[in-house]
Amino acid sequence: MVKLKPFQVEQWMDEYETTPGVLNIAETCAASLSIADLAGLAVPTVVDGTTIIPPADPLSALATTRLTYGAIRGSSTLRKQVAALFDSGKDEDVSPLPADNVVITQGAIGANHLVFYTLLGPGDHVVCVYPTYQQLYDVPKSLGAEVSLWKLKLENGYVPDTAELEGLVQPNTKMIIINNPNNPYGVPIPRPVLEEIVSFAKARDIAIMSDEVYLPLTHGGILAPKPDDDENAAALVFGEVETLVAPPAPPSILTLGYDKVVATGSMSKAFALAGLRLGWVASRDKAIVAALLEARDYTTISVSQLDDGIARYALSDSVRDSLLRRNTELARRNIRHLNRFVGKWENKGRVRCSWVAPTAGTTAFIQVSTVANSDDDVSTATPVDDKQFCIDVLKAIQVLMVPGSLCFGEGKDFKGYVRIGYVNETAVLVEALSKLDRYFENNIA
Ligand SMILES: Cc1ncc(COP(=O)(O)O)c(C=O)c1O
Repeated sequence: MVKLKPFQVEQWMDEYETTPGVLNIAETCAASLSIADLAGLAVPTVVDGTTIIPPADPLSALATTRLTYGAIRGSSTLRKQVAALFDSGKDEDVSPLPADNVVITQGAIGANHLVFYTLLGPGDHVVCVYPTYQQLYDVPKSLGAEVSLWKLKLENGYVPDTAELEGLVQPNTKMIIINNPNNPYGVPIPRPVLEEIVSFAKARDIAIMSDEVYLPLTHGGILAPKPDDDENAAALVFGEVETLVAPPAPPSILTLGYDKVVATGSMSKAFALAGLRLGWVASRDKAIVAALLEARDYTTISVSQLDDGIARYALSDSVRDSLLRRNTELARRNIRHLNRFVGKWENKGRVRCSWVAPTAGTTAFIQVSTVANSDDDVSTATPVDDKQFCIDVLKAIQVLMVPGSLCFGEGKDFKGYVRIGYVNETAVLVEALSKLDRYFENNIA
C-alpha cells in the first residue's frame, strides 16, 4: 500500500480561496446558486394534461419533514431522477436505468472513493487517464493497486488514444478509469472513442469507471451558437468560429451496452449546487451496486434529507432543464471572454499562451510561457514557474488560478500550466481577465 499524498488541488483551494477580495477563477462549479435562485428558475410543467405549478419555496416542504436518517440509499424519487439523466440520449437501444442501480453519496468525491474502496485492492492494476482529478489515480494507489497513467496528448486534442490501451493493460488489469469531460482540459471523449474503450474492456472483462461530474455541461465552447446577449461577439478573435458546429455531447458510459461500468456524478458542477454535497454512483451491474452498498454502510448511512430534498427539487421537471440551460449559456458566454484573452496573449510581447479551447465542463488548461525578446519565436519559449506565477498574480491583483504542475502534474508535468474555471459569474471572470491583462502588460510583456 502507498500512503496517500496530499490532495494538491483541494489544499490549494483551501489555502487561497478565502483570500480577502479574491477574484476566484480557480473554482470549477458553474456559478453557485442559492435556494431562492433555484426557485426563480422553476417553470410550470404539464403532465398528462394537468399543469403542475412548482412550489415557490422548496424549503417549505422540508420544514415539516422529521429529520430521521431518511432513505438509506437516497430517496427513491431522487434515485429515479438521477437514473433518468442516463436516458437523455433517448436512444431506443438503451434500456432505462432502474432507480435501484443508483446510490446517493456525499458528492462525486464520495462516490469515487466508494467505487475504489469497494472494487480495488492489492494485486489489482488499473489504467487511469492523465491529467485528471488526483483522487482518480492516487486513491487506487493507496489501496494497493498498481496504476498506469494513460497520458492525454496534444496531437489527439487531449482525447485518449485507444491504440495505446493494448500497451497499458496487464493480465491483472481490473479497471479503466476515465474522466469525461476531462478536468482540467475541458475536452469530452466522443462517442466513437467511448465505444472503442467499451469494446476493448468488454473483450477482456475489465470494468470501466467514468467520472462524469461535468458531463451534462457539454456546451460546445467557442464553436457553439453565441448566446443572445453576447454584446462583445464582434470582438471575437476567431470570428470564423461563428459558422462552425459544436461536436455532439458524448453519451454516458452507462448507455453503451456494457454492464461492467460505473459512472459517478453530482449536483456540484453542471447543476451549480456544490453546497448540497450530493452525488451519486450508478452501474448497470447489480453485483457491483450490491458491493458498493455493503461498503457504503461503513461511511455514510444516508445523506442529509435536506440535501436530498433540494436535489429532488433541482432535478424535477420544473427546474432541471432551465437550470442546465442557465449553466450552459453561462459557459458559452464566458468561454468567449476567455477565448479573447488567450487569443490576445498567444503571441504578444514576451508572452506566449497556448491551449486547446475547451468544449465541455468548466475548466481550461492554459500554458503560459515567455520568450527572451518580443520577436522571438514560440519554439524558444520557457514555461513560467506556475506555482510562483499563481502566487505572484494572487498577491498583486487578487486573481486566483490553479497551478498546473503542482495540482495536476505531480510537480513534474504540465510546467507553466494554469487551470482556469471560467463558468463563474461573468462579471467576476471579466474583471479577473482584465486585471490579468494589465498584469501581463505591466509585468511580463
Ligand atoms: C473530476 C472531478 N470529480 C469529482 C469532483 C468532486 O466533486 P463533488 O463536489 O461532487 O464532490 C471534482 C471536483 O472538482 C472533479 O473535478
